[in-house]
Amino acid sequence: MIATMHVPFVDLKAQHRALAPEIETAVRGVFERGDFILGPAVEQFEAEYAALIGTRHAISVGTGLAAIELALRAYGVGRGDEVITAANTFIATVLAIAAVGATPVLVDMDRDTYTIDPAAIAAAVGPRTRAIVPVHLYGQPVDLDGVMAVAARHNLLVIEDAAQAHAARYGDRRAGSFGHAAAYSFYPSKNLGAYGDGGIIVTNDDAAAQRLRLLHNYGQRVKYYHSVFGTNSRLDTVQAAVLRVKLPHLESWNATRRRHAAAYGARLPEAVHTPVEAPKGEHIYHLYVIETADRDRMLQHLRARQIDAGIHYPVPAHLQEACAPLGYKAGDFPRTEAAAARILSLPMYPELTDAQIDYVVEAVANAVQ
Ligand SMILES: Cc1ncc(COP(=O)(O)O)c(C=O)c1O
Repeated sequence: MIATMHVPFVDLKAQHRALAPEIETAVRGVFERGDFILGPAVEQFEAEYAALIGTRHAISVGTGLAAIELALRAYGVGRGDEVITAANTFIATVLAIAAVGATPVLVDMDRDTYTIDPAAIAAAVGPRTRAIVPVHLYGQPVDLDGVMAVAARHNLLVIEDAAQAHAARYGDRRAGSFGHAAAYSFYPSKNLGAYGDGGIIVTNDDAAAQRLRLLHNYGQRVKYYHSVFGTNSRLDTVQAAVLRVKLPHLESWNATRRRHAAAYGARLPEAVHTPVEAPKGEHIYHLYVIETADRDRMLQHLRARQIDAGIHYPVPAHLQEACAPLGYKAGDFPRTEAAAARILSLPMYPELTDAQIDYVVEAVANAVQ
C-alpha cells in the first residue's frame, strides 16, 4: 500500500497554476479598462465559442440555469406547456422548465449510458408537449439521433442541456449543435469552468438569437429602450476574459480526461462497473461514474484514504422534496432509481496524475476485496 495521498475530486488550483500568468494579464486588462459589463471580451468569447461548437450564434448569460430558462423563453415555452426531461439530472434542468411556467415531465434513462431514453420520451409525448430538454449527463452526449427523431415526429422543440459537456462530439459534429438551441454552464468545476458563475446558449436560429440578446439584457434594444420584459443575466467581462484564456485548451483537456478514463477503465477491478460509451457519442468525462453494490461502504473507504469521491446524484429529480408537487413516487423510474443507489463518481480532472490514478485504483480494489 502506498502512503496516504489526498486526491481531490477536482483540482481547480492546479489548472489555475498552469494558466495564472495569462489569466492575470487578461483580468488585469478588464480591471484597467473598467469594461466590467458586456465589455469586448464578452463578444470575442461568444464568437470563439460559437466557432468551436459550429453554430451561428452564442449568447452568454449569468448561469447555466439561466441559459436553459432563457432558451425556453426565447421560444415562448410557458404556462400550459409540458417539457420532457430526464429524471436523472441535476435539479437545474427541472427548475429552468418550472421557472418559465411549464410543467416538467420526467422520463427514465438508458441503463447503460445514463442518458435519456428516446423510447421513454416518445411514450411521454402528449397533446401539451412542447419541448424536450435532453441532458448530456456526465459529459456523454445523449442518443441525439433518437431524440431528434422523436422531436421531428411530434414537431417538438429541442433545447440541449449541455452544461456538463463542453465540446463533446456526436458523430462528426458537436453535441449542442443538434437542437434548436443548447445551454452550457461555466460553473467552476465544469469541463470548461469560469472563476465564478457563467453560462452560454448556442443556436443556429437567427430569430431566437435576437430574442435572447434582448431577454438577457433587460429587454433593451438600445440602452433605456425596452421592447420586451427581459431579465438581467449577463456573463461578466472578467469571466469572459478568463474563459478566453481557457478555451484554446479545452480540446486537449477533454482528450486528457478520456485518457484518464481509459486508465481507470483498464485497471479498476471487475467487481465495479465502469462507464459505457455510446457508439456515436464522444464522452468527455466531466464526471467518471462507476457502479458498485456496496456503494456507501466504498465511499467511506475512499474518504478514509483521503480520496474525494462523490455521488451524482444521490436523489433523482422526481424524488426530491422540491418536486413533490409534480406527483411522482418511488418506483416511477426504476432504471434511474437502481443507478442512484449504486453510482459513485471518482476524481476526474485533466491535471490528475498517474500516481493519483494508481492510488485511487488501488483503494477501490482494496474496498471490493
Ligand atoms: C445538467 C446541468 N444542467 C444545468 C446546470 C446549471 O448550471 P449552473 O450551475 O451554471 O446554473 C448544471 C450545473 O450546475 C448541470 O449539471
